[in-house]
Amino acid sequence: MNESLAYAVGRGMALTYLDRATYRRKSEPAVLAELVEEFGPCYVVPEGGSNGLGVRGCAELPAEIDVDFDVVCCATGSGGTLAGIAAGLTDGRRALGFAVLKGGQFLDDEVRRLQHEGFGAATENWALDYEFHFGGYAKRKPALDTFIADFGTRHGVPLDWVYEAKMMYGLFDRISSGHFARGTTIVAVLS
Ligand SMILES: Cc1ncc(COP(=O)(O)O)c(C=O)c1O
Repeated sequence: MNESLAYAVGRGMALTYLDRATYRRKSEPAVLAELVEEFGPCYVVPEGGSNGLGVRGCAELPAEIDVDFDVVCCATGSGGTLAGIAAGLTDGRRALGFAVLKGGQFLDDEVRRLQHEGFGAATENWALDYEFHFGGYAKRKPALDTFIADFGTRHGVPLDWVYEAKMMYGLFDRISSGHFARGTTIVAVLS
């Protein structure tokens, strides 16, 4: 029971166990049907909230950014956030996702699939960076911890190491190695 799960239970959520083998098949119709049978008529929210509706929700995010920008970055786990943000951008702007898991190349297809599910078409205004997973999902390394501590001291923003810190580390690295043209305005989303 970690902090988040304890909070959820404290707010009245009932938790139930799913073994790893079944979890791997979590989006197969048979597994979904079993869930509906066990818990009665219900809406099964997929991992990460990433489905067509989630994408449509995230597409509203760019309109909330009240500064002018060229590129918007987010951490990417299940893909819905990047898919939505990119779909909601006005012409000429681009979205960049930093994959937080190892072997995240499947996310290219997944983001496209999610955009199709949400809007019936994929956009070409986004990309994924796979170089900053730090060993895998929820894995951390001393360089990441040092970065989090330094960032916290300088900006007063505590970054979570599972998502935000990997994106921010990757972004700083790409900026310093000249990936972005001088003068590019970049927004980083901490959600
Ligand atoms: C802070 C933060 N950024 C990004 C993401 C990744 O979102 P997605 O799973 O839609 O790719 C998450 C997911 O939990 C998150 O907590």
